[in-house]
Amino acid sequence: MIPPAAVTAPEAGLPLVPLVDLQLVRRHLLAGFLWLLASMFAGLLVSLQFLGRYPIDFVEIFSPGRVRMVHTNLVAFGFLLNCLAGMAYWVVPRLTGLPLQWPRFAHCNFWLMQLMGTALVVMLLGGHAQAVEWGETPVALDPLVALVAVGFFINIGACMLKIGRRPVYVTLWYFSAATIWTALTYLMGNYLPQFFVAGAAGGAIAGLYIHDLVGLFVTPLGWGAMYYFVPLLLNRPIYSHALSLIGFWGLAFFYPLQGVHHFLWSPIPMYAQYGAVVSTIAIEIVVATVIVNFFLTLRGQTDQLRTNLPLRWFYTGMVLYFVTCLQCSIQVLLSVQKIIHFTDWVVGHAHLVMFGVFGFWLFGVIIHLWPRLTGKPWWSHQLNVWHYWLSTAGLLVMFLDLLVAGVMQGFEWRNMAPFESSIIASVPFWAVRTVAGLVIAAGQICLAWNIWKSRGALARAPMVPFVEPAGAGAKPA
Ligand code: HEM
Repeated sequence: MIPPAAVTAPEAGLPLVPLVDLQLVRRHLLAGFLWLLASMFAGLLVSLQFLGRYPIDFVEIFSPGRVRMVHTNLVAFGFLLNCLAGMAYWVVPRLTGLPLQWPRFAHCNFWLMQLMGTALVVMLLGGHAQAVEWGETPVALDPLVALVAVGFFINIGACMLKIGRRPVYVTLWYFSAATIWTALTYLMGNYLPQFFVAGAAGGAIAGLYIHDLVGLFVTPLGWGAMYYFVPLLLNRPIYSHALSLIGFWGLAFFYPLQGVHHFLWSPIPMYAQYGAVVSTIAIEIVVATVIVNFFLTLRGQTDQLRTNLPLRWFYTGMVLYFVTCLQCSIQVLLSVQKIIHFTDWVVGHAHLVMFGVFGFWLFGVIIHLWPRLTGKPWWSHQLNVWHYWLSTAGLLVMFLDLLVAGVMQGFEWRNMAPFESSIIASVPFWAVRTVAGLVIAAGQICLAWNIWKSRGALARAPMVPFVEPAGAGAKPA
């Protein structure tokens, strides 16, 4: 199927098509950002429950337990999935030199993804959920989630497969690995514990799923984006290709072994728990090589962190990634677990990684790409700067606040204080969390307003000859 906008390239006899489907990229980024707003609204509501001020607890469908699931699931299947898809639809054609092979299919998949997000909200609020953490998507909806994920991966995979045996840049290593890992992760997490493996073994698989959804779906796409955008923004190659490959293989080797660290001190056999602890600490060493690589790439140009906003988002997210992994290698110790398990420490950690790392990288993508999609500069640079500072300050306050709250709660429980006493002591921390959430939300309103004011017609993408999907051995443009 040839995209509708095709014209003919007389010299080659091939139709010319835009290299990047700008409308598709724009739709995905915008939809992802709107889902983020919805998710944050749900998060703010739930945070009020902790203060005993939940405004609509008399309406069953808006009960806090359900709204919490909406908050966490929209972050993953609304915000991250959409924005990562938009980013990949920009990056993959540029790196392979090939436009998407089935653009109409990609647009259909976009609408399916939004249908899935809407159905997810409706079903979770309706009280239909699966008893798998992060896999709460109702069983009836799981096939649709899998379908849109597979649809996305087929679209980028078709370009990647067609470049044949040509050496590929590390970004495509990450992206192609993500296509395989995600499918396996999703099927494993949503079907094995539900239908085949019960008890502690099911718990071990669920832990693997929670961890791999972040580590083998979001992380490879996120690092792939870093390797693409940072050298581009700095206008210089990555410092060491060898170090980038160590990062890739380290992720591939150590990440899948860590899942059980979500259930330390549980009935899962101790050898599996020890294995998870060791590989969690090991990955910190791998992460260090990646961070060194990026800082060496920046050498001599640190001033750009002040002047180049997308670059600042990428590097802030990367430093927070290092902090997350460092925190992970501490909190995974069995002695530390005795204190922080089940406390707000973990919630702080979750916000740091999901928002402070992947969310921040995706903001870097949005800030960099939006003017290239609309053909208009940002309406206000200052609003984008406000967005950066409000998001960063709000996140750091929320993270530190929950970290301290977690330690306090853990010691209260260890000292056998009455549970109510730990709740009373937590209320000020939860109040700070709500305020920090409001600050983050104010930041997103700045970006939303700026996006609205900077809207415009689509920019023009570079045109390339279209090569038939079936053309075996076809050379990319
Ligand atoms: C307006 C800002 C936000 C507020 C007020 C907020 C609030 C909350 C609350 C109250 C919970 C439930 C905690 C619990 O059950 O103990 C939660 C969980 C969670 N939130 Fe947020 N949130 C916000 C933004 C975000 C963002 C932007 C992300 C990711 C991009 C995110 C990711 C998560 C995750 C992953 C969890 C699950 C944590 C866990 O189970 O350990 N939140 N949030």
